[in-house]
Amino acid sequence: SYRTSHRRFLQPVATPPTRTPEFAFAFDIDGVLVRSSDALPRAHKALSYLQTNRIPFILLTNGGGKHESERVEELSRKLSVPLDTSMFVQSHTPFADMDEYKNKTVLVVGGDGDKCRRVAESYGFKNVVTPGDIFTAYPDVWPFSRQWVEYYKPFSRPLPKPIDPSSPDTSLKIDAIFVYNDPRDWGLDTQIIKDVLLSHQGILGTLSESNGKSALRNKGYQQDGQPPLYFSNPDLLWAAKYHLPRLGQGGFREALEGVWAAVTGGKDNGVELKKIVMGKPHRPTYQFAEKRLISHRRDLLAGYEGDVGNLKRVYMVGDNPESDILGANSYESPHGTDWASILVQTGVYTAGSVPAHEPRMVVGDVLDAVQWAAAEEG
Ligand code: G3P
Ligand code: MG
Repeated sequence: SYRTSHRRFLQPVATPPTRTPEFAFAFDIDGVLVRSSDALPRAHKALSYLQTNRIPFILLTNGGGKHESERVEELSRKLSVPLDTSMFVQSHTPFADMDEYKNKTVLVVGGDGDKCRRVAESYGFKNVVTPGDIFTAYPDVWPFSRQWVEYYKPFSRPLPKPIDPSSPDTSLKIDAIFVYNDPRDWGLDTQIIKDVLLSHQGILGTLSESNGKSALRNKGYQQDGQPPLYFSNPDLLWAAKYHLPRLGQGGFREALEGVWAAVTGGKDNGVELKKIVMGKPHRPTYQFAEKRLISHRRDLLAGYEGDVGNLKRVYMVGDNPESDILGANSYESPHGTDWASILVQTGVYTAGSVPAHEPRMVVGDVLDAVQWAAAEEG
């Protein structure tokens, strides 16, 4: 049994907090504030109420595909609420801190055109290759994307090195794979990721000695210095404009895992795909978001005289029990901050069903969430 508040708050609570608020909010975006390009009806009112009353909040999304500054500018316009990157965490934002790969050659997968390449470069990655670059240089690498040659051409770049298995030392070597956003061409991206992971140490065009033989003989897959594979977001489903949830980056990963099991030994002795999956509900994402929220709150409340006190509670408002609710419920803050999950009925979760992970409260929409929380805080 989970608690549901059916009270529809029509007007914001009148009395703003007199003391510095010791609570704040983290808002999921898709299914809470927007449905793809459309703002949800009461999102503006919810965020404006918080800004009027100087109650801190951040946006915490498994979405991405654009630089934080570009996405924040779009959302500010769509929601008619001033936002800035200090209050914004996307799925791939934490990739910006991965300095160990900045001077290596990384494969960046997903997103529209080469937007994710440009995001990676803005994070400081110097040698970024995309599946589109590989396909444009070697169309035979994936025979079924021929009809998209013209799509890829305008934003592809020449490869830093050729794919030449006869001279591995001078052939293109991938040092890490990052899936930044939902792949648009699952076939090409699956083929390229598989090629890298079955190669000898990330050298494209080669088959690792152990894997070449064993995979073909269905004897399973041996790790041979292949590069790490990072996913920025685990979402199997998400709330786009269509009335039913759509497959997200987690859908692509599941499909890739199926291909991977088949090529590394088949149903019985195929091996688990080695990967690192980030994003909600995983702890590093909530840790990263809490750090961002604490510093944003400090800046926002700088005007208050005296000590702003500690952040006692964060209300995590989300539409997806698997990411937003599970993440907040299981996150243990090093600062002792209580993360209280609030589930809304405007996205992936459908009203009346039993959520896979029990939220602190279920409400109608984001304004109900804000009003319920404000009433809780008194
Ligand atoms: O790609 C976006 C989707 O995975 C979910 O985004 O904002 O609901 O975390 P969000
Ligand atoms: Mg969502």
